[in-house]
Amino acid sequence: MCGIIGYTGSEDVKEILLDALELLEYRGYDSAGIALSDRAGVRMFKCAGRVSDLRNVCRRETSGTETVPGEPARSDGSAERRVQCGIGHTRWATHGGVSDANAHPHQVGKVTLVHNGIIENYRELIEDYDLGGSLVSDTDTEVVAALLNRFYEGNPQEAIRKTVSRLRGTFALVVMFEDHCGAIYTTRNVSPVVATLCEQGAMLASDLTALCRFTGRYFVVPEYHILELREDAVRLTDFDGNETEPEYFTVNWELNSAGKNGYPFYMEKEIMEQPQAIADTMEERVRGGLPDFSADGVPDTLFTDCERICVIACGTARHAGLVAQALVKSILHMHIEVEMASEFMYSDPVIDEKTLVLAVSQSGETIDTLEAVKYARRRGAKCLSIINVRGSSIARESDYVLYTNAGPEIAVASTKAYTTQLVIFYLIVARMALLRGVFTTEETQSYIRELQRTPDTIKEVLGKRRDIHVVAGKLLAAKDLFMVGRGLDYSILLEGSLKLKEVSYIHSEAYASGELKHGPIALITQDTPVVAAVTQEKLMSKELSNIREVRSRGADVVIFIKESIAGNLAEEYELITLPDMRDEFMVMPASAALQLLAYYVSSDKGFDVDKPRNLAKVVTVE
Ligand code: G6P
Repeated sequence: MCGIIGYTGSEDVKEILLDALELLEYRGYDSAGIALSDRAGVRMFKCAGRVSDLRNVCRRETSGTETVPGEPARSDGSAERRVQCGIGHTRWATHGGVSDANAHPHQVGKVTLVHNGIIENYRELIEDYDLGGSLVSDTDTEVVAALLNRFYEGNPQEAIRKTVSRLRGTFALVVMFEDHCGAIYTTRNVSPVVATLCEQGAMLASDLTALCRFTGRYFVVPEYHILELREDAVRLTDFDGNETEPEYFTVNWELNSAGKNGYPFYMEKEIMEQPQAIADTMEERVRGGLPDFSADGVPDTLFTDCERICVIACGTARHAGLVAQALVKSILHMHIEVEMASEFMYSDPVIDEKTLVLAVSQSGETIDTLEAVKYARRRGAKCLSIINVRGSSIARESDYVLYTNAGPEIAVASTKAYTTQLVIFYLIVARMALLRGVFTTEETQSYIRELQRTPDTIKEVLGKRRDIHVVAGKLLAAKDLFMVGRGLDYSILLEGSLKLKEVSYIHSEAYASGELKHGPIALITQDTPVVAAVTQEKLMSKELSNIREVRSRGADVVIFIKESIAGNLAEEYELITLPDMRDEFMVMPASAALQLLAYYVSSDKGFDVDKPRNLAKVVTVE
């Protein structure tokens, strides 16, 4: 959570920082700020609100100023005032409310600092070092700035080392020292920082989204190291002062794929990108019609030696795990548990060397998932992660990684990451079924052929967006809504319901339809619309009985139904028909349809679809 950026180079520092913050805004968007440094000092601009508000603040506060730090070189001889150095932050509040004063950067004495993470012992630090007098905000971050300033005697590295040795918690700190113009320093524990040296200079950020406009090469700053950025050099040292070489990775994302491409919102763009993202995720992983992870370096013994599976994930990624659970049980007949990463360590999990842990995360940075992976590996389990962002923390902590090739996902509500996670699960299940003798070669090939149809079936669903938009229009006034289905349909709806509630603020609950009569049906009235999924042939008649039960209590019902089983239900119900696939694959077209439903409800209500209130895309606090 929180996006951080640092840049030193020949380009317009202020513009680079502001543009980068806009790209990082999905990490948090309640306040924003930048600090620009030149030989005359460091100047801060910050405010509660979005980066667009910060742009206005910058414009207002710099208009008419002759020597504005961060402005590009001028031809009138003021070039010596040109600044090549600045840091920025977009905030998701943890300590201290949303206010101008609590926005980052924080400045104490010669130190200017932005921070992502939580300093758990900030109160102790205030007392131990008597820092209270100099603080003007309610944040834990300002305490770090004050401590750094206390220890600073002209040597940035030494001050950083001393400060960090007293911190408890997670942090990515990015610091400028007033008398070290042109240099930016960063250090971290858990919270991510990636960096690069490219044609335009040196830059660092919380994640790649902000860098990939400039370069395809980046490295992850190792924990408890200090990185010094200068216009033409980066210097990485450990805490003993030993220099180490950064290990560069190459980004597989097109440099411009982080833009909106003409769509009003990233969410719509990302929904529409799914056919391609799914095809990209399968590419290289199907050979001779069979699933194959040799290019990923994942050995078959991982799938043959395990006795049970444990999926660990949060949010949408966990919902992908619930679909996997149904597949593993019905196809592999294996024991599988799907754990909420945030509950995992406190639930005495049964994990040992016979457990295959599958950690699922779009960002690869969710702290609960990361900590759960570390815990499981300490217990002897092997961990295979399903991740979208290359080189992310969870990827680095895992034994093996299968990357979803979804490209940058910017909208807070996850869409293409979810469906590509599902694709990886389908491939894993198929590979395991083949290796464990559950499927013959022909059965595996037939299963994979069906999976390969998904880009086309999703395209078909996307072609029905107008019909889905019309249905969405009927839900705009709802305050509460239920989504009901059985078996895999219930799993699909858990995700559909999360999508709807996070972007539309309608209270939506997914319920296993057979459970309705054990409580929730008491809430069904004519003001409580019901969305049902009917995609599993063998469950259809029972699902329809449950749908009739809510219908007779006055609810308006819309059914997302597999086309071939829809019969004449259109005479009775509002239907959205979904292209036919084998039942276990119906999750794919159904998910795309439910994503569109949520999207249209939110956009028609006039909300900022990509940035729902209180949420952030990357959750790096426990
Ligand atoms: C946040 C995001 C969700 C995401 C979840 C897990 O809540 O808003 O879209 O599903 O975190 O994130 P991860 O990056 O681990 O998949």
